[in-house]
Amino acid sequence: MKAAVYEAHGGTEQIRYGDFPDPVCGSGDAILKVRAAALNGFDPMMLMKTTGLKTPLPMVPAGDAAGEIVALGSAVDANQWPLGTPATIYPMVPGEGMTGETRIGACSEYVRIPATNLVRIPDGLGFEDAASLPIAYGTALRMMRVRGKIRTGEKVLIWGATGGVGVACVQLAKAAGAEVIACGSAAWKLERLRRLGADAVIDTSQENVRDAVWQRFGKPSTRGGGGVDVVVNYIGGDTWVESLKLLGPGGRMVTCGASAGYATGNDVRYIWSFELTIIGSNGWSMDDQAQVMRMARDREIEPVIHAIRPLAETGAAMQELIDRTVFGKVVLVP
Ligand SMILES: NC(=O)c1ccc[n+]([C@@H]2O[C@H](COP(=O)([O-])OP(=O)(O)OC[C@H]3O[C@@H](n4cnc5c(N)ncnc54)[C@H](OP(=O)(O)O)[C@@H]3O)[C@@H](O)[C@H]2O)c1
Repeated sequence: MKAAVYEAHGGTEQIRYGDFPDPVCGSGDAILKVRAAALNGFDPMMLMKTTGLKTPLPMVPAGDAAGEIVALGSAVDANQWPLGTPATIYPMVPGEGMTGETRIGACSEYVRIPATNLVRIPDGLGFEDAASLPIAYGTALRMMRVRGKIRTGEKVLIWGATGGVGVACVQLAKAAGAEVIACGSAAWKLERLRRLGADAVIDTSQENVRDAVWQRFGKPSTRGGGGVDVVVNYIGGDTWVESLKLLGPGGRMVTCGASAGYATGNDVRYIWSFELTIIGSNGWSMDDQAQVMRMARDREIEPVIHAIRPLAETGAAMQELIDRTVFGKVVLVP
């Protein structure tokens, strides 16, 4: 089959598009003919080896895939999963790890997945939309609803609101009735955020986020008032301590990652004085994945797709993610 593959870590010049061995269907597996795959922020991190995770090489990127079942292992119930069924993959596989990180990813014509990791695509949802949803929207659903418990009227500031998880957080926080302050690094992205429903936007390439928040909502005071109620922060790096200073009394910070670095530093004075809560959020459930697909089918959320590119352009698509010139999701089609 054809696939996008890297055999060494480094920049996107390491990604070649060409022949790769067909996946072998184990007894509990299904083979999906990939109709669309999607990249995520972790794909360039794995390529460049900027996380502590070890990637076996060669590696095919992408943990998101939507397609049709074309083969089943002998132990899989063919009545439950008839050939031709449209499905997405739930990319975290027990014993194998994350698809595109420790197990072969989906930037390919076919992908192997245990049948227990298949999530049916509801009628009326296209492959490109379906592929864009699991990781970004599943993660955002858990962050906003399950862990962050965003409530109507809360002020929610989202760093990196322009990325895959970010746009999904904007959409879900708005759907929960929150007032959304969305951060992005370019004017064109801020315009897109406004159109997506953000109540306020902050250009991180031009403005100091703390100044902008204090000006708009007041400086947080331990006696009450000022700042925002929730900060969504998967950027880490220099934004971490800065975020503590944006939260009013009882504020919450929700995190699922650290694109700009894990060694963030800390200032515990803000945590005790303002009785802040730091909330971790990791992954999502298969039910969450089915739910975001139903929400998209029912037009409760609209997946934001920056571009749909042929699989052969995986390297160029990955470069756009690295250059931060993407708004929403990048989808690749064989
Ligand atoms: N734990 C989990 O289950 C889980 C699941 C999915 C994702 N994540 C994590 O969540 C984060 C976002 O993922 P994603 O797929 O949404 O990524 P993405 O599409 O690349 O979006 C990340 C956004 O962050 C902003 N950003 C600010 N500083 C950055 C920096 N130093 N490097 C890169 N981007 C920076 C960029 O927006 P601007 O240029 O506009 O600022 C970019 O649009 C990643 O850290 C990822 O590992 C975790």
